[in-house]
Amino acid sequence: MKRRLILKKESFGGLFVDTEIGKREFLRPDEYESKKQELLQLEDRAGKVQIVDVTERGYPLLTDATSSPNSFFWELTKHCIGTCTDCFMDSNSPRWNQAEISFSEIEEIVRQFADLGGYSVRLTGGEPTLRQDFFDIVDLLNEAGMEVGLNTNGMFDEKKLEQILSRGIKDIRISLDGPEEVNDRIRWSGNYRGVITTIERIAEYNKTAPDPTKPTINMVLMRSTMLHMEQMVRLAQGYGFKISFGLMRLSGRAKSDEMLSPEEVVQAAYESQRMREELGLPQGAIRVNYDIFCEGVQDGKRRKVSGYAPFPFDNSKCPLGTSGLNIDAYARIAPCGYFVNAEEMMGEDIRGKDLLNVWHNSSLLKMIRNLTREGCTDCGYYKVKCNGGCPAMAYFLDENINGRDPYCIRDVNVTRIAGGKPAGR
Ligand SMILES: C[S@@+](CC[C@H](N)C(=O)[O-])C[C@H]1O[C@@H](n2cnc3c(N)ncnc32)[C@H](O)[C@@H]1O
Repeated sequence: MKRRLILKKESFGGLFVDTEIGKREFLRPDEYESKKQELLQLEDRAGKVQIVDVTERGYPLLTDATSSPNSFFWELTKHCIGTCTDCFMDSNSPRWNQAEISFSEIEEIVRQFADLGGYSVRLTGGEPTLRQDFFDIVDLLNEAGMEVGLNTNGMFDEKKLEQILSRGIKDIRISLDGPEEVNDRIRWSGNYRGVITTIERIAEYNKTAPDPTKPTINMVLMRSTMLHMEQMVRLAQGYGFKISFGLMRLSGRAKSDEMLSPEEVVQAAYESQRMREELGLPQGAIRVNYDIFCEGVQDGKRRKVSGYAPFPFDNSKCPLGTSGLNIDAYARIAPCGYFVNAEEMMGEDIRGKDLLNVWHNSSLLKMIRNLTREGCTDCGYYKVKCNGGCPAMAYFLDENINGRDPYCIRDVNVTRIAGGKPAGR
């Protein structure tokens, strides 16, 4: 990956990114100016240093979002060999039988994104690795100096895995929803064995690789999987993988009878914390939604970014629509992937469009940035430790995107939860 030193001017000062070491730094206005001077004096700055000030392009510095997008969550295709019963994307559904975004259209969007200082792209789908031009896309992103992440079902042969690893994709997330019988019932028959083979190959590669990859098992938390958390943590640990438990969102093919109750979600958060403590693992080794109130998961430790973290990075907003964008296989933007089956929450097709203009003027993005999170504003945790939860949950469960996340734990009786010890209560 090409090294980029990106300095973006923002309403709060600036954002500095060094893509080589994954450094992010929020700068106050005076710090922005001195960083700018420092970068302009670098002798070898050509092709490496990028200073982005949207006011020079006639746009204001936004106060409710970053002034240009930092990250993309990109669904490269709707196609997948999987038949997952909970798929929020509803992948492979016949209505997706239309031409997907082409390589040259992707190229043009990436060119604009890079020019605006964008630096992170997570590839997902459908199954992104099924695209014939998948490696051309990864090469394009690497050449543009993007940090590339991959969400995959892990069902590929050794040759394809080698190609993925040789391209230096570090953040590979492979889905596995429990032990074999459970996983294969949710995902599809034979999936578990195939995924374990890939996981074993990655673990083997990492033993000798000079620059090992940092893989994660992604597991959806739902009624069928919840009881298997500990077994899956141990499995992930055995292979040197991290694990991420993502609460099932009621979108696409997901069924409401698999939804956990808010009490169970809190229990999952406390379980995760208990396992971190027992196994001596850092927080990042076991990720889970809604763990913000657990002991030991405190402000500075929770965020990758510590120190000066101004709005919109201060826990007051969901990143999608405010610093990142979801793009679907037809180049339509959405604030977040969970909305791709909700027509009214989908924005414009950005093919042939000016990305900066879309970022500043899309009515959908403006609406997202103006959410007031009704029901959160009087809560002492809001903006301190909690960003109001997931607007998609509020939208799908209560039909009010501006409402309180139905999984808000404020009303959960945590004393009833075994081993649960609420912090600061
Ligand atoms: C839609 S998949 C696409 C990438 C790839 N095909 C895969 O299987 O990982 C991305 C991730 O979303 C998770 N997922 C699927 N449906 C979900 C839902 N309803 N709620 C939350 N996560 C879900 C999957 O388990 C997977 O980890």
